[in-house]
Amino acid sequence: MRSFSQSPTDPAFVQDPYPFYDRMRASGDLAYWEDYSLVCATSHRTVHALLRDRRFGREIPAELAQPVPDHLAPFYRIEDHSMLELEAPRHTRLRGLVLRAFTSRRIAGLGPEIAALAHGLIDGFDGPDVDLLTAFCQPIPVIVIARLLGVPDDMAPQLLRWSNDMVAIYQARRTRAIEDAAASAAEAFADFLRGYVDARRRAPRDDLLSQLIAAEEEGERLSLDELIATCILLLNAGHEATVHTMGNGIALLLSHDMTVTEATAARTAEEIMRHDPPLHMFTRYAYEDTELYGHRFARGDKVALLLGAAGRDPEVFTDPHVFAPGREPRPHHAFGGGAHFCIGAPLARLELQTALPILFERLPRMRLTEPPRFADLYHFHGLESLRVTL
Ligand code: HEM
Repeated sequence: MRSFSQSPTDPAFVQDPYPFYDRMRASGDLAYWEDYSLVCATSHRTVHALLRDRRFGREIPAELAQPVPDHLAPFYRIEDHSMLELEAPRHTRLRGLVLRAFTSRRIAGLGPEIAALAHGLIDGFDGPDVDLLTAFCQPIPVIVIARLLGVPDDMAPQLLRWSNDMVAIYQARRTRAIEDAAASAAEAFADFLRGYVDARRRAPRDDLLSQLIAAEEEGERLSLDELIATCILLLNAGHEATVHTMGNGIALLLSHDMTVTEATAARTAEEIMRHDPPLHMFTRYAYEDTELYGHRFARGDKVALLLGAAGRDPEVFTDPHVFAPGREPRPHHAFGGGAHFCIGAPLARLELQTALPILFERLPRMRLTEPPRFADLYHFHGLESLRVTL
């Protein structure tokens, strides 16, 4: 296996990580990324296989778990009950309970509401120059997921702040100030939700939170900590990635002088996620000593799955660096795969397929006023702003 060096905080790399991925992929099935001390899967085939390999998983093996420092306790109280950080049997149970409430019928019914939201935001644009990231891409996913859970629209900015403070902990440059902000956001977020859970227990409504409270699998319900962690996971996972996908997509379309209509929206959304997915790296722990692609993994070793690299694999996608919404659809890995496949994929697809055509049909003369720049955060491949003139 060959070794590669590339700082994830190098601003030029963050703008275009794909040449680095190409070099790693060309070297073999697995490559070593020195700056992360991680073995990486970069091809479509290896990422696909590892996502589904039950000898690997997200939950940290018990013997590797470190004691949590006091100042991070509120943050880990959420993380330790989040299905994203767990494996079977707890993961299966939590995911089953959420899927019971997060039905496709409930999601499909949101189309008209998303369309109304998109139109309302466009009606409110106040000038010839607009930052679409804050004026359009951000509000839609956060308001939709908040409404689903039963949280009022006017809480959306506060939810965004809590969520941003919490996810900031995953960035490569993590400081004590970032950790303190994540912990206090987790505490405030949990306190807020506890109040909501109490209210819905007393008087259930037709919202996801009431359904999560009622959901039961084999006689077991979600505990209060699990309920809070699930709501926070849905709110955090439910907006950040969708905001960035929408932003990346609008920037791609405008910089290629392309548009999107209701008829082309489904394929366009998939091509956006193949070409520029919002989340590039996820890791897995090996649960047993095993040999894979010529590399020996010991129990507890980590492997990184580079989703952004898999989408540019020339073995699967012809001219992979070309943005071509008309290309023959092939599965991409923007939503992951296997046991942790994104629960929100149907909702994210509906948001993209509804909001993008409305924006482009209502504002056919919209143009970029500055080249879009990705924010200096490798883990979230999203723009820092998206300035256009209408
Ligand atoms: C998991 C991507 C939108 C909720 C995941 C994973 C990926 C992903 C890659 C799997 C991580 C892994 O395997 O380690 C995305 C993208 C989105 C998006 C690209 C938008 C374009 C959403 C939305 C929601 C959501 C809208 C909720 C409403 C979740 C949850 C999980 C998850 C709950 C954890 C599933 C589990 O652990 O079983 N997402 N996501 N996501 N996503 Fe999404």
